[in-house]
Amino acid sequence: MLEVQGLQAAYGDSQVLFGMRLAVGAGELVTLMGRNGMGKTTTVRAILGLTPPTAGSVRFRGREIAGQPPHRIARLGIGLVPEGRHVFPRLTVRENLVATARTGPEGRRSWNLGAVYDLFPRLAERSNAMGGQLSGGEQQMLAIGRALMTNPLLLLLDEATEGLAPLIRQEIWRSLARLKGEGLAILLIDKHVEPLLDLADRHFVVEKGRCVWQGTSADFRSEAGRIQQRWLGV
Ligand SMILES: Nc1ncnc2c1ncn2[C@@H]1O[C@H](COP(=O)(O)OP(=O)(O)OP(=O)(O)O)[C@@H](O)[C@H]1O
Ligand SMILES: [Mg+2]
Repeated sequence: MLEVQGLQAAYGDSQVLFGMRLAVGAGELVTLMGRNGMGKTTTVRAILGLTPPTAGSVRFRGREIAGQPPHRIARLGIGLVPEGRHVFPRLTVRENLVATARTGPEGRRSWNLGAVYDLFPRLAERSNAMGGQLSGGEQQMLAIGRALMTNPLLLLLDEATEGLAPLIRQEIWRSLARLKGEGLAILLIDKHVEPLLDLADRHFVVEKGRCVWQGTSADFRSEAGRIQQRWLGV
């Protein structure tokens, strides 16, 4: 579904990605891990063309997309749940969702208001509330709902549960399990790793703009101590 190789990206003169690689297969849930400032968000931005890569390859469904403008990449079927959520504070929940609604690639129309409200009943209850009045958890649900309304084939979630209470985190992860069950491919950035091992298929660890470890959840479990200590611990 997605294959990233040799990806380089920079902010002005400051290079941040130095040959990043990762891959997400059809129907897979893959995590991208790494300490603060190592390049996770930049990787996501480079995949989407928001920070255009200076070198390397991004293949989506077999097609090279590096260098294409963000709106075209998004239309190929990649949805983003951005770090910080970015819901419209002065639009209602319903308006936030309707604002991003569109038919997906190959005429996909699986997602509409009803389907999002079914996934997140809380959003149905808050349908007429302003985006800015929502709790952090509700905003995150809305951010996921907004991405789903574009009918993507691949969902990129940057900091899926940051700052959320444990029960809300569980609720978000449960929703991701359901989306994966429905065949959506997911690339997930989340500071919590252990609770995601059952849900995720594979993992990539980034340090200073490079992938330093990759493996399955079983691989991760058998090396968890070393990985946590070398690349994830503070
Ligand atoms: N807009 C920007 N301009 C300049 N430098 C930036 C910008 N955004 C990020 N950086 C720098 O790029 C590096 C990678 O940042 P990035 O946001 O990709 O890391 P991250 O792994 O997502 O971190 P976090 O876990 O804190 O979200 C950091 O050194 C950061 O300071
Ligand atoms: Mg980040």
